[in-house]
Amino acid sequence: MEHARRPLIAGNWKMNGLRADGLERARALAALAGAADAPPCDWVVCPPASLLLAVGPALAGSPVTLGGQDCHTAASGAHTGDVSAAMLADAGCRYVIVGHSERRADHGEGDALVAAKAAAAQAAGLVAIVCVGETEAERDAGRAHAVVARQIAGSLPAGASALDTVVAYEPVWAIGTGRTPTPDDVQAMHAHIRSCAPPAIDASALRILYGGSVKPGNAATLLRLADVDGALVGGASLVVEDFWAIGEATR
Ligand code: PGA
Repeated sequence: MEHARRPLIAGNWKMNGLRADGLERARALAALAGAADAPPCDWVVCPPASLLLAVGPALAGSPVTLGGQDCHTAASGAHTGDVSAAMLADAGCRYVIVGHSERRADHGEGDALVAAKAAAAQAAGLVAIVCVGETEAERDAGRAHAVVARQIAGSLPAGASALDTVVAYEPVWAIGTGRTPTPDDVQAMHAHIRSCAPPAIDASALRILYGGSVKPGNAATLLRLADVDGALVGGASLVVEDFWAIGEATR
């Protein structure tokens, strides 16, 4: 990469993993990362909340950090089933994904809620990975850039900075489908997102990840793009060798 933004490779395990396979995956990843000299990127894995306290110690001492997949806007209280950003930080997390399209679709989360979650994450000392991305119908209608601009305007909290915020561009139609936009389309969208960043954010320092069917076979092409600063990886993050290879593609 020709710019100073250090790549970030984030693994989103989604609702996958029991203690046995989750621990095995974390240990294998930590061993690979520990054996490599000078990792070319930052790493974070985001297991289900049930595994954080098991996976965290397995990663300790390795360059791979821990993240959550979602957080509540409040620090504590009567919110059955939710996890707060402070709890994630207490469990060893450094990052949390907010506004993933599966949360937006499955739980009706809108931009204002996503911004409140990101603000809660930042207040707890976490880096918020804020997800945006258009549906296939929106892209077909020529509205992808407008939709993402609206999501960026609504989902980044006031006071966000490039230090505590990462944006992940994940076209909904590319998630888990094996389809990706063309490299030209990805670069155009990432440049667009950078140009839409609120004035309070140093856009040149803001890391913008691409997500949606990132695999070892397409990672180098995507990660070489000027405004792509890493990847948010779902399915391939469950296969240690594949996740590792995606990080190596940032070299
Ligand atoms: P995928 O998921 O890599 O399986 O497409 C990406 C994501 O949803 O973060």
